Amino acid sequence: MTKLALGILISGRGSNMVSLVDAALAADYPARPVLVLSNRPTAAGLIRAQALGVETDVVDHKAFGTDREAHERAIDARLREKGVEIIALAGYMRVLTPWFVRRWQGRMVNIHPSLLPKYPGLNTHARALAAGDTEAGCSVHWVTEGVDAGEVIARARITICPDDTAERLAERLLPEEHRLYPEALRQACDQILTRDPSTV
Ligand code: GRF
Repeated sequence: MTKLALGILISGRGSNMVSLVDAALAADYPARPVLVLSNRPTAAGLIRAQALGVETDVVDHKAFGTDREAHERAIDARLREKGVEIIALAGYMRVLTPWFVRRWQGRMVNIHPSLLPKYPGLNTHARALAAGDTEAGCSVHWVTEGVDAGEVIARARITICPDDTAERLAERLLPEEHRLYPEALRQACDQILTRDPSTV
């Protein structure tokens, strides 16, 4: 079957990356991970990816100073060298430049720990608690130029408990993220393959 070459961008521990790589082991999964790339050389997820047999790379943003586009041009070059056809952002903690977003428009997805369109940006769990929400969740969406603003592919929800803190909520939500992301990425790949069967 047709499998899209998947590049995963991370900045930290990489637990969502692991869930995607694990899911892609299935014979009928429409993506195959070809590269895990981090902007931080110390990201724990790099070691996890290597243990799973996925090639890793680092493009350290610090080497580019304030030139964000130059950093992303370097990332883009690595992704293209590997033949990447779809990008999954998995805890990639930098806002991408319009140049990069446009270049990968319709081929890049992200997981965000809120029920988008609620709470784009940071501190989502604390904001949900402060607002007195009764439920929290996560969303996988297409990446567009607005931060966490692209069309949502899928969401998962959990009920907020009276004793939840932001940390506890994040911890309880994480397994939902790990279930949601592989399924939503499958849908994203199917959309790309339906739209553009000549991809591979
Ligand atoms: C996750 O909560 C994800 O939703 C957010 O950043 C966190 C990354 O965690 N974008 P991990 O690196 O995948 O473990």
